[in-house]
Amino acid sequence: MNRIPAFGLGTFRLKGQVVIDSVRNGLELGYRAIDTAQIYGNEAEVGEAIAGSGVRREELFLTTKIWVENYAKGKLAASLEDSLTKLRTDYVDLTLIHWPAPNNGVSLEEFMTALADAKARGLTREIGVSNFNIALTQQAMAVVGKDAIATNQIELSPYLQNRKLVNFLQREGIHVTSYMTLAYGKVLGDPVIGAIAQRHEATPAQVALAWAMQLGYSVIPSSTKRENLASNLRAQTLHLTADDMAQIAALERNGREVSPDGLAPQWD
Ligand SMILES: NC(=O)c1ccc[n+]([C@@H]2O[C@H](COP(=O)([O-])OP(=O)(O)OC[C@H]3O[C@@H](n4cnc5c(N)ncnc54)[C@H](OP(=O)(O)O)[C@@H]3O)[C@@H](O)[C@H]2O)c1
Repeated sequence: MNRIPAFGLGTFRLKGQVVIDSVRNGLELGYRAIDTAQIYGNEAEVGEAIAGSGVRREELFLTTKIWVENYAKGKLAASLEDSLTKLRTDYVDLTLIHWPAPNNGVSLEEFMTALADAKARGLTREIGVSNFNIALTQQAMAVVGKDAIATNQIELSPYLQNRKLVNFLQREGIHVTSYMTLAYGKVLGDPVIGAIAQRHEATPAQVALAWAMQLGYSVIPSSTKRENLASNLRAQTLHLTADDMAQIAALERNGREVSPDGLAPQWD
């Protein structure tokens, strides 16, 4: 069963008044899931925008991600409590390990156990991972049990379809969250996506988002513009044909945008 909303609001790179406006606009338009992270440096502003919105906490699905310097068992829960204070809440819905960071000195067993302990203490309703390859996901499953891992949030767009990892995750019943579904805007100029969009009287962004959701993934696009936030949300009512889906499947080109040294794993 999927415990993660299909559609959410990303907040990477957005700071200060820009993130406050984006979250406020998103909530006004009907977004109810928000994706932030300790390293984004915007949890306090996200919390401020939520507090000012009048939307009740129980209607929201808040995700944050633990930054690599907080992986040690003596630090993880305290850093999450700090995030909760900034977000002005006493729990988040989902907490992810942001990057595997294989050489940062804390073992996977230690940080996954600390994350499961934080869940047991009620600091987060669900836990999961991000940017994990197959081998690391298997190791995380071995530590906390596969049912405990609500999602693996990975870069996934029409240009980077990640089929090997997705097949593995779907086989194991671990939900896929696609980040940078728009490849940070790059797929929006694609002629194939443009032609599909025209046929449906939709935008290219809606086509990319609908494609990912039709494959069963959650999406968390970000935007600083109210009109883009509004039209992206309407991707939920766009239905692509089997032929559209096949044409987008053919756009795969291993177009990875994000792979930070020292944090990223060996990609599958
Ligand atoms: N787990 C991880 O390691 C990780 C890594 C990266 C991102 N993420 C999460 O995933 C979220 C999404 O990724 P992202 O924000 O990097 O990239 P994205 O959602 O693929 O793309 C955002 C870009 O697309 C533009 N855009 C959005 N809607 C548009 C539309 N309808 N028409 C034209 N342009 C549009 C935005 O510009 P405008 O502002 O001008 O609309 C922005 O430049 C992040 O915000 C973050 O929450 C997670």
